[in-house]
Amino acid sequence: WGTAALASLVLAAPSVAQTIGFSQIGSESGWRAAETTLTHQQAEERGIDLKFADAQQKQENQIKALRSFIAQGVDAILLAPVVATGWDAVLEEAKEAEIPVVLLDRTVDAPEDLYLTAVTSDLVHEGAVAGQWLAKAVGDEPCNVVELQGTTGSSPAIDRKAGFEQGIAGHDNIKIIRSQTGDFTRTKGKEVMESFLKAEDGGKNICALYAHNDDMAVGAIQAIKEAGLKPGDDILVVSIDAVPDIFKSMAEGEANATVELTPNMAGPAFDALAAYMKDGTVPPKWIQTESKLYTQEDDPMAIYEQKKGLGY
Ligand code: AHR
Repeated sequence: WGTAALASLVLAAPSVAQTIGFSQIGSESGWRAAETTLTHQQAEERGIDLKFADAQQKQENQIKALRSFIAQGVDAILLAPVVATGWDAVLEEAKEAEIPVVLLDRTVDAPEDLYLTAVTSDLVHEGAVAGQWLAKAVGDEPCNVVELQGTTGSSPAIDRKAGFEQGIAGHDNIKIIRSQTGDFTRTKGKEVMESFLKAEDGGKNICALYAHNDDMAVGAIQAIKEAGLKPGDDILVVSIDAVPDIFKSMAEGEANATVELTPNMAGPAFDALAAYMKDGTVPPKWIQTESKLYTQEDDPMAIYEQKKGLGY
Protein backbone atom coordinates (compact mmCIF):
# COMPACT_ATOMS: atom_id res chain seq x y z
CA TRP A 1 0.00 0.00 0.00
CA GLY A 2 1.38 3.43 -1.01
CA THR A 3 0.90 6.49 1.18
CA ALA A 4 -1.79 7.89 -1.13
CA ALA A 5 -3.81 4.66 -1.03
CA LEU A 6 -3.55 4.51 2.75
CA ALA A 7 -4.64 8.14 3.04
CA SER A 8 -7.68 7.47 0.88
CA LEU A 9 -8.58 4.48 3.08
CA VAL A 10 -8.36 6.63 6.19
CA LEU A 11 -10.55 9.30 4.58
CA ALA A 12 -13.13 6.70 3.56
CA ALA A 13 -13.19 5.08 7.02
CA PRO A 14 -16.57 5.35 8.74
CA SER A 15 -16.70 8.08 11.33
CA VAL A 16 -18.01 6.78 14.66
CA ALA A 17 -19.26 9.01 17.46
CA GLN A 18 -16.55 9.28 20.09
CA THR A 19 -17.57 12.12 22.38
CA ILE A 20 -21.20 12.43 23.36
CA GLY A 21 -22.70 14.97 25.73
CA PHE A 22 -25.58 13.81 27.95
CA SER A 23 -27.82 16.36 29.61
CA GLN A 24 -29.66 14.43 32.31
CA ILE A 25 -32.63 15.89 34.24
CA GLY A 26 -31.41 14.98 37.73
CA SER A 27 -32.06 12.10 40.09
CA GLU A 28 -35.69 12.54 41.07
CA SER A 29 -36.56 8.83 40.91
CA GLY A 30 -35.13 5.33 41.09
CA TRP A 31 -35.90 4.98 37.40
CA ARG A 32 -33.88 8.12 36.57
CA ALA A 33 -30.89 6.89 38.58
CA ALA A 34 -31.00 3.59 36.69
CA GLU A 35 -31.14 5.40 33.35
CA THR A 36 -28.02 7.37 34.33
CA THR A 37 -26.14 4.21 35.41
CA LEU A 38 -27.08 2.36 32.22
CA THR A 39 -26.10 5.29 30.00
CA HIS A 40 -22.62 5.31 31.56
CA GLN A 41 -22.38 1.52 31.18
CA GLN A 42 -23.53 1.55 27.56
CA ALA A 43 -21.09 4.35 26.72
CA GLU A 44 -18.20 2.48 28.35
CA GLU A 45 -19.01 -0.73 26.47
CA ARG A 46 -18.89 1.19 23.19
CA GLY A 47 -15.73 3.17 23.98
CA ILE A 48 -17.65 6.45 23.97
CA ASP A 49 -16.33 9.38 25.98
CA LEU A 50 -19.55 10.49 27.75
CA LYS A 51 -19.70 14.04 29.02
CA PHE A 52 -22.37 14.00 31.71
CA ALA A 53 -24.26 17.03 33.02
CA ASP A 54 -26.84 16.77 35.82
CA ALA A 55 -29.36 19.62 35.47
CA GLN A 56 -30.86 19.23 38.95
CA GLN A 57 -34.39 19.49 37.51
CA LYS A 58 -33.78 22.90 35.86
CA GLN A 59 -34.31 23.53 32.16
CA GLU A 60 -31.94 26.51 32.27
CA ASN A 61 -29.14 24.17 33.41
CA GLN A 62 -29.94 21.83 30.54
CA ILE A 63 -29.79 24.69 28.03
CA LYS A 64 -26.42 25.78 29.48
CA ALA A 65 -25.12 22.21 29.26
CA LEU A 66 -26.20 21.92 25.63
CA ARG A 67 -24.46 25.21 24.78
CA SER A 68 -21.31 24.01 26.49
CA PHE A 69 -21.43 20.69 24.57
CA ILE A 70 -21.83 22.64 21.32
CA ALA A 71 -18.87 24.90 22.21
CA GLN A 72 -16.75 21.81 22.95
CA GLY A 73 -17.65 20.37 19.55
CA VAL A 74 -19.02 17.02 20.79
CA ASP A 75 -20.01 14.48 18.12
CA ALA A 76 -23.59 14.14 19.39
CA ILE A 77 -25.87 15.08 22.27
CA LEU A 78 -28.33 13.05 24.34
CA LEU A 79 -31.04 15.16 25.95
CA ALA A 80 -33.60 13.97 28.53
CA PRO A 81 -35.77 17.11 28.49
CA VAL A 82 -37.26 18.04 31.86
CA VAL A 83 -40.21 19.87 30.28
CA ALA A 84 -41.70 19.75 26.79
CA THR A 85 -41.49 23.39 25.69
CA GLY A 86 -38.74 26.02 25.30
CA TRP A 87 -36.13 24.03 23.36
CA ASP A 88 -36.32 25.50 19.86
CA ALA A 89 -33.48 28.06 20.14
CA VAL A 90 -30.84 25.72 21.61
CA LEU A 91 -31.83 22.87 19.29
CA GLU A 92 -31.42 25.29 16.35
CA GLU A 93 -27.90 26.06 17.63
CA ALA A 94 -27.04 22.35 17.72
CA LYS A 95 -28.43 21.92 14.23
CA GLU A 96 -26.38 24.83 12.90
CA ALA A 97 -23.28 23.25 14.47
CA GLU A 98 -24.28 19.96 12.75
CA ILE A 99 -24.43 18.10 16.04
CA PRO A 100 -27.20 15.47 16.08
CA VAL A 101 -29.40 15.50 19.16
CA VAL A 102 -31.21 12.39 20.42
CA LEU A 103 -34.06 12.81 22.91
CA LEU A 104 -34.20 10.29 25.73
CA ASP A 105 -37.38 9.15 27.52
CA ARG A 106 -39.33 12.43 27.12
CA THR A 107 -40.55 14.32 24.08
CA VAL A 108 -40.42 18.03 23.20
CA ASP A 109 -42.84 20.43 21.50
CA ALA A 110 -40.38 21.49 18.79
CA PRO A 111 -40.12 20.96 15.03
CA GLU A 112 -38.99 17.41 14.25
CA ASP A 113 -36.07 18.53 12.08
CA LEU A 114 -34.37 19.91 15.21
CA TYR A 115 -33.51 16.47 16.54
CA LEU A 116 -32.37 13.20 14.99
CA THR A 117 -34.68 10.84 16.85
CA ALA A 118 -36.47 10.32 20.17
CA VAL A 119 -36.08 7.10 22.17
CA THR A 120 -39.21 6.95 24.31
CA SER A 121 -42.08 4.71 25.26
CA ASP A 122 -45.63 5.48 24.17
CA LEU A 123 -46.36 7.69 27.18
CA VAL A 124 -50.08 7.98 26.42
CA HIS A 125 -50.36 4.21 26.07
CA GLU A 126 -48.71 3.70 29.49
CA GLY A 127 -51.42 5.81 31.12
CA ALA A 128 -54.13 4.01 29.14
CA VAL A 129 -52.83 0.60 30.29
CA ALA A 130 -52.96 1.79 33.92
CA GLY A 131 -56.53 3.10 33.43
CA GLN A 132 -57.69 -0.10 31.74
CA TRP A 133 -56.21 -2.18 34.53
CA LEU A 134 -58.16 -0.16 37.10
CA ALA A 135 -61.41 -0.35 35.10
CA LYS A 136 -61.08 -4.14 35.02
CA ALA A 137 -60.13 -4.35 38.70
CA VAL A 138 -63.15 -2.39 39.98
CA GLY A 139 -65.75 -3.64 37.49
CA ASP A 140 -69.03 -1.81 38.09
CA GLU A 141 -68.19 -0.65 41.63
CA PRO A 142 -68.01 3.13 42.14
CA CYS A 143 -64.38 4.23 42.43
CA ASN A 144 -62.95 7.63 43.38
CA VAL A 145 -59.39 8.01 42.11
CA VAL A 146 -56.68 10.37 43.31
CA GLU A 147 -53.90 11.11 40.85
CA LEU A 148 -50.27 12.02 41.54
CA GLN A 149 -48.95 13.75 38.46
CA GLY A 150 -45.34 13.94 37.35
CA THR A 151 -43.38 17.17 36.90
CA THR A 152 -45.66 19.91 35.61
CA GLY A 153 -45.08 20.59 31.91
CA SER A 154 -43.13 17.35 31.34
CA SER A 155 -44.30 15.11 28.51
CA PRO A 156 -44.86 12.05 30.75
CA ALA A 157 -47.07 14.08 33.11
CA ILE A 158 -49.12 15.44 30.21
CA ASP A 159 -49.36 12.15 28.30
CA ARG A 160 -49.82 9.76 31.21
CA LYS A 161 -52.70 11.91 32.46
CA ALA A 162 -54.36 11.94 29.04
CA GLY A 163 -53.74 8.20 28.60
CA PHE A 164 -55.28 7.27 31.94
CA GLU A 165 -58.36 9.35 31.13
CA GLN A 166 -58.64 7.43 27.84
CA GLY A 167 -58.24 4.14 29.72
CA ILE A 168 -61.17 4.83 32.06
CA ALA A 169 -63.35 6.54 29.42
CA GLY A 170 -66.82 5.04 29.29
CA HIS A 171 -66.55 3.77 32.89
CA ASP A 172 -68.74 6.37 34.56
CA ASN A 173 -68.34 4.62 37.93
CA ILE A 174 -64.66 5.75 37.98
CA LYS A 175 -64.00 9.39 38.79
CA ILE A 176 -60.75 11.30 39.29
CA ILE A 177 -61.59 13.38 42.35
CA ARG A 178 -58.16 14.94 43.02
CA SER A 179 -55.10 15.43 40.86
CA GLN A 180 -51.89 17.21 41.81
CA THR A 181 -48.21 17.10 40.97
CA GLY A 182 -45.83 15.11 43.17
CA ASP A 183 -42.92 16.02 40.89
CA PHE A 184 -41.97 12.36 40.34
CA THR A 185 -40.39 12.16 43.83
CA ARG A 186 -41.07 9.90 46.78
CA THR A 187 -41.10 12.77 49.27
CA LYS A 188 -43.65 14.85 47.36
CA GLY A 189 -45.70 11.77 46.56
CA LYS A 190 -46.04 11.14 50.29
CA GLU A 191 -46.72 14.79 51.09
CA VAL A 192 -49.45 15.20 48.46
CA MET A 193 -51.05 11.86 49.35
CA GLU A 194 -51.25 13.02 52.97
CA SER A 195 -53.18 16.08 51.84
CA PHE A 196 -55.50 13.94 49.65
CA LEU A 197 -56.20 11.63 52.60
CA LYS A 198 -56.93 14.54 54.90
CA ALA A 199 -59.28 16.15 52.39
CA GLU A 200 -61.13 12.88 51.68
CA ASP A 201 -62.35 11.83 55.11
CA GLY A 202 -59.05 10.27 56.15
CA GLY A 203 -59.02 8.34 52.86
CA LYS A 204 -62.41 6.63 53.32
CA ASN A 205 -63.65 8.35 50.20
CA ILE A 206 -60.71 7.14 48.05
CA CYS A 207 -60.84 3.85 46.16
CA ALA A 208 -57.64 4.06 44.12
CA LEU A 209 -54.39 5.94 43.61
CA TYR A 210 -52.94 6.45 40.13
CA ALA A 211 -49.34 7.73 40.31
CA HIS A 212 -47.39 8.78 37.20
CA ASN A 213 -44.36 6.94 38.60
CA ASP A 214 -43.55 4.24 41.14
CA ASP A 215 -41.51 6.49 43.41
CA MET A 216 -44.51 8.73 44.11
CA ALA A 217 -46.60 5.57 44.65
CA VAL A 218 -44.06 4.27 47.19
CA GLY A 219 -44.20 7.59 49.07
CA ALA A 220 -48.01 7.54 48.94
CA ILE A 221 -48.15 3.94 50.21
CA GLN A 222 -46.30 5.12 53.31
CA ALA A 223 -48.83 7.94 53.78
CA ILE A 224 -51.75 5.52 53.40
CA LYS A 225 -50.29 3.20 56.03
CA GLU A 226 -49.70 6.11 58.42
CA ALA A 227 -53.37 7.05 57.95
CA GLY A 228 -54.31 3.59 59.24
CA LEU A 229 -55.45 2.18 55.91
CA LYS A 230 -54.21 -0.78 53.87
CA PRO A 231 -52.62 0.24 50.57
CA GLY A 232 -53.36 -2.29 47.82
CA ASP A 233 -56.59 -3.22 49.56
CA ASP A 234 -58.47 -0.23 51.05
CA ILE A 235 -56.87 1.92 48.35
CA LEU A 236 -55.75 0.25 45.12
CA VAL A 237 -52.37 1.47 43.82
CA VAL A 238 -51.40 1.58 40.14
CA SER A 239 -48.33 3.36 38.79
CA ILE A 240 -45.66 3.40 36.08
CA ASP A 241 -41.93 2.48 35.76
CA ALA A 242 -41.57 -1.02 37.27
CA VAL A 243 -38.65 -0.14 39.57
CA PRO A 244 -37.56 -2.84 42.06
CA ASP A 245 -39.18 -1.18 45.10
CA ILE A 246 -42.68 -1.32 43.63
CA PHE A 247 -42.29 -5.09 43.19
CA LYS A 248 -41.43 -5.34 46.87
CA SER A 249 -44.62 -3.39 47.65
CA MET A 250 -46.55 -5.66 45.29
CA ALA A 251 -45.12 -8.76 47.00
CA GLU A 252 -46.33 -7.32 50.32
CA GLY A 253 -49.78 -6.69 48.82
CA GLU A 254 -49.39 -2.90 49.13
CA ALA A 255 -49.29 -2.06 45.42
CA ASN A 256 -51.39 -3.65 42.70
CA ALA A 257 -50.00 -2.92 39.25
CA THR A 258 -47.22 -1.11 37.40
CA VAL A 259 -46.41 -0.44 33.75
CA GLU A 260 -42.78 -1.03 32.83
CA LEU A 261 -40.55 1.65 31.34
CA THR A 262 -37.08 0.42 30.39
CA PRO A 263 -34.25 2.56 31.80
CA ASN A 264 -32.03 1.47 28.90
CA MET A 265 -32.83 4.31 26.53
CA ALA A 266 -29.13 4.91 25.77
CA GLY A 267 -28.52 1.54 24.07
CA PRO A 268 -30.93 2.20 21.18
CA ALA A 269 -29.79 5.86 21.09
CA PHE A 270 -26.10 4.94 20.71
CA ASP A 271 -26.97 2.31 18.07
CA ALA A 272 -28.91 4.89 16.05
CA LEU A 273 -26.08 7.41 16.37
CA ALA A 274 -23.43 4.86 15.36
CA ALA A 275 -25.34 4.00 12.17
CA TYR A 276 -25.90 7.68 11.43
CA MET A 277 -22.23 8.58 11.93
CA LYS A 278 -21.06 5.56 9.94
CA ASP A 279 -22.98 5.98 6.70
CA GLY A 280 -25.66 8.60 7.27
CA THR A 281 -28.44 6.09 8.04
CA VAL A 282 -31.31 8.23 9.32
CA PRO A 283 -33.25 6.50 12.12
CA PRO A 284 -37.03 6.74 12.43
CA LYS A 285 -38.12 9.92 14.27
CA TRP A 286 -39.40 7.75 17.09
CA ILE A 287 -37.65 4.67 18.47
CA GLN A 288 -40.35 3.20 20.67
CA THR A 289 -39.52 1.16 23.75
CA GLU A 290 -41.87 -1.48 25.15
CA SER A 291 -44.50 -0.94 27.88
CA LYS A 292 -45.53 -4.01 29.86
CA LEU A 293 -48.10 -4.36 32.63
CA TYR A 294 -47.17 -6.24 35.81
CA THR A 295 -49.58 -7.21 38.58
CA GLN A 296 -49.41 -9.09 41.88
CA GLU A 297 -49.91 -12.32 39.90
CA ASP A 298 -46.50 -11.99 38.24
CA ASP A 299 -44.31 -13.25 41.12
CA PRO A 300 -43.23 -9.75 42.19
CA MET A 301 -40.51 -10.97 44.57
CA ALA A 302 -38.74 -12.86 41.77
CA ILE A 303 -38.92 -9.77 39.54
CA TYR A 304 -37.59 -7.63 42.41
CA GLU A 305 -34.55 -9.92 42.70
CA GLN A 306 -33.96 -9.90 38.92
CA LYS A 307 -34.31 -6.15 38.59
CA LYS A 308 -31.99 -5.22 41.43
CA GLY A 309 -28.92 -6.05 39.37
CA LEU A 310 -30.04 -4.13 36.28
CA GLY A 311 -28.77 -0.63 36.95
CA TYR A 312 -31.14 0.13 39.84
O1 AHR B 1 -39.47 10.47 31.82
C1 AHR B 1 -39.61 9.28 32.50
C2 AHR B 1 -40.05 9.51 33.90
O2 AHR B 1 -39.17 10.38 34.56
C3 AHR B 1 -40.11 8.28 34.77
O3 AHR B 1 -41.29 7.59 34.67
C4 AHR B 1 -39.98 8.92 36.12
O4 AHR B 1 -39.73 8.02 37.15
C5 AHR B 1 -38.88 9.84 35.83
O5 AHR B 1 -38.60 10.72 36.79
